[in-house]
Amino acid sequence: MQNLNEDTITHAVIEQIAHTPNPRLKRILTSLVQHLHNFAREVELSEDELMTAIQFLTRSGQMCSDKRQEFILLSDTLGLSTLVMAMNNRKPPACTESTVFGPFHVENAPVFPLGADVANGAKGEPCFVSGVIRGVDGEPVPHARIEVWQADEDGYYDVQYAGLGKFQGRGVLCADQDGRYYFRSIVAEPYPIPHDGPVGDMLRATERHPWRPAHLHFLIKQTGYQTLITHIFRKGGTYLDSDAVFGVRSTLIADWLRHEPGRAPDGSIMEVPFYTLEYDFVLNPAKKDR
Ligand code: BEZ
Ligand code: FE
Repeated sequence: MQNLNEDTITHAVIEQIAHTPNPRLKRILTSLVQHLHNFAREVELSEDELMTAIQFLTRSGQMCSDKRQEFILLSDTLGLSTLVMAMNNRKPPACTESTVFGPFHVENAPVFPLGADVANGAKGEPCFVSGVIRGVDGEPVPHARIEVWQADEDGYYDVQYAGLGKFQGRGVLCADQDGRYYFRSIVAEPYPIPHDGPVGDMLRATERHPWRPAHLHFLIKQTGYQTLITHIFRKGGTYLDSDAVFGVRSTLIADWLRHEPGRAPDGSIMEVPFYTLEYDFVLNPAKKDR
């Protein structure tokens, strides 16, 4: 393995990883080396450009914390998250489509009873959300675990506020025996993804904006069904055709209806205008073990 040149280096590296015991790792690394080397050849990568890329990735790592995941943002803004999500969530057309997970989900979100206000003090116009969880034959799916999370009216998730010390605009609910779910929250608004780091630099360098259209995240789980990770987007909102992370599916766009002050779906009297959103989800059956 001496005197390697631009024609022999790729083969030499692949030979070095040929004995990787894990077959999946071997396949991924072999393909990665092949594509990475071919990419460098195709664009005739300069040494300065390689160093710029290394510095970009270094800064991305340095931006990461328990509140910030720059590599998820990078994957999202390069369309890689949507590609991988689409390949791994092929399902019958009757099922609710999946979309990107994003970096703002947290473990251990608070559990609420049906009907509760998951905003928990987050700023925004009130919104009552409801619907039914079904299977592909229309049967209600009882007692699914439903996790929701969203930004407030200023476009920030609770985890983006330093020292907030509580969960806001997120929660876990359990659908009833008829698959029904309902809760109160606030109206989702468009927001820019964090763009004060290397991903923001990339967006500016490519003259792209950082905005996402208004949406509400859902993660729905029930035994016997594939877990659904998705959002519901707000019909008529801005950025539906230019989502910075390529997540919009037209089947996930719904009407968020505005109402004048009066009786809300939970029977309470609202003294301010409020919104309602109704959306039914269809879960894909889990793959059978053979
Ligand atoms: C989100 O919707 O929370 C999100 C998705 C991708 C990147 C940034 C945010
Ligand atoms: Fe989001």
